[in-house]
Amino acid sequence: MNILLCSGAPRSTRVRDFLRTRCDRLLETAGAVDLATLRADKIDWIVSHGYGPIFREPVLPAYAGKIVNIHNTYLPWGRGIMGNVWSYFDDTPKGVSLHFIDAGIDTGEIIARQLLDLPQDATLQSSWDLLMTALEDLFIARWDSIVAAHGSPQVQTRLPEIGTYRSRAQSLELLALFPKGWGTPVAEVAALGREYRANPEAFERTHGLVINPKQLKQADGSSQEYTVTLCQARVRTPQRETGPGAPGLEAAEATPDDKLDNWLWVNDPVTRRMFKLNDYIGWGEHCRWYEALLKDPDRLLCIGKVGSERIGNVRFDRRFNDVWEVSINIAPGWRGMGLGAQLIAQSIDLLLAKKPVTRLYAMAKIINGPSIASFKRVGFPVKSPDPGFPGLERFDPGTEVFMEKILQPLD
Ligand SMILES: CC(C)(COP(=O)(O)OP(=O)(O)OC[C@H]1O[C@@H](n2cnc3c(N)ncnc32)[C@H](O)[C@@H]1OP(=O)(O)O)[C@@H](O)C(=O)NCCC(=O)NCCS
Repeated sequence: MNILLCSGAPRSTRVRDFLRTRCDRLLETAGAVDLATLRADKIDWIVSHGYGPIFREPVLPAYAGKIVNIHNTYLPWGRGIMGNVWSYFDDTPKGVSLHFIDAGIDTGEIIARQLLDLPQDATLQSSWDLLMTALEDLFIARWDSIVAAHGSPQVQTRLPEIGTYRSRAQSLELLALFPKGWGTPVAEVAALGREYRANPEAFERTHGLVINPKQLKQADGSSQEYTVTLCQARVRTPQRETGPGAPGLEAAEATPDDKLDNWLWVNDPVTRRMFKLNDYIGWGEHCRWYEALLKDPDRLLCIGKVGSERIGNVRFDRRFNDVWEVSINIAPGWRGMGLGAQLIAQSIDLLLAKKPVTRLYAMAKIINGPSIASFKRVGFPVKSPDPGFPGLERFDPGTEVFMEKILQPLD
C-alpha cells in the first residue's frame, strides 16, 4: 500500500513515523496534488494533517473515502482555521476528529471523534499541544480499522445550524487582538467571547472586527440570534420507526455520555423561549453545571431514549422537604408526538424508586400549550399555588402557570 501524507503542520513527525510502519511507500507533500501524479505514484490513501491546499475535482471523486483529514476540533464545531481558538471564543465543545474529505471545508463524513476536557488554566499553545497529542493518538488507534473499512462513518448533518466555520482572515484578525499570541491564556479568549455575545455591535465597534457577518446579516442583530445559530437543534436526524416491534420510549438516569445532547437541547431556540433564562449556555459553563448535577443528591436528570436515539430529558430539583420541581425538554426533532407526557411519567417512576416524594410541581409559560397539556395528562392540573409555597419567588403569575401533582398530603 502507498500513502501520501499531505502535511504542513508544525508537527507531523509522529503521524509520519507511524504511517511508515503501515505502508510500502510513504510520500509527502505540502503542495497541491494532481490526479496524474497520484496515479503515477500509485497512491492508495491520502492523509491530510495541517495541510493548506484544498482537494478538488478530479482528485476528490477518484479518491472518495480514501482521503482522511486529521482535525483538531470536535466537528462540526471549529471548521476552518484555528478551531481551537474559536472553541474558546464561542465556548463550544473541545476535542478532535478524523473525517473523510469531501468538497467542503471539514464537512466530510466523521470517522471518529473524541471530546476532551482541557485544563482551564491552559494557554492557546498548551491546549493546542494537548489536542494534537490526542489527535495523533486517535489517528494511530484508528488507522488500521479505517483501512479495513470497519465502522460506519457518520454524515455531519445540519452543519450551518449547529456547526461553526471561520476563515483564515477572520482567525488572524481575532488572534491579533491578543498581544500574547499563542501564549494567551484560554480564559482571556473565553472572556472576550462573552463580551462579544453580550453585545456584538459594541464589540465590533470597539475591536474593529466582524465576527459573524453572515449570521448577523440574516438576523436582527441581537446577541441571542447569533448564539442560537452557534448551537441549535440535534446532531443527527432521528431514525424513527413506527408500528409493531418499533422501539418504545425508555427513560434512564443521565450519564456523562448524555452531556452533549443535553447541551444541544438547552440551546435550542424554542427551549430558550420557554425557559426562564434565555441566554446561550456555553459549553464550558454547561460542563461544570452538568457534572455538578450528576453528583447532586437533590437533583435527578433522566434521559429518554427511543432505540439508541436520545429524545429528551426530565429534570427534578428538590426545592424543600420532599417537594421536587420538574422540568422537561424534548429534543426538537421529537416534539409533537406525545413523548413529553410519557417521559415525565417514566421519569417520575425513576425518582420515586430513589427518593421520598410528597409533591411534584412544574411551571410553564402560559403560551406553552404542549407543556401544559403534557403535564396535565400525567396528573399535574393547573392550579393556584398554596400561599407561602417555597420557591414561588421564581413564579410569575402574569406569564406562567403553576401545575402540581400531590402524592401525599402535607402534614
Ligand atoms: C413541551 C414539550 C415537552 C411537549 O412535549 P411533546 O410530547 O412534544 O408534546 P406534543 O406536541 O406531542 O403535545 C402534547 C399535548 O399538547 C397538546 N398541544 C399541542 N400543541 C398545543 C397548543 N398549542 N395548545 C394546547 N395544547 C397543545 C397536544 O394535542 C397533546 O395533547 P394530548 O396529550 O391531549 O394529546 C416539548 O414540546 C418541549 O420539550 N418543548 C421545548 C421545551 C419546553 O417547552 N419545555 C417545557 C418548559 S415548562
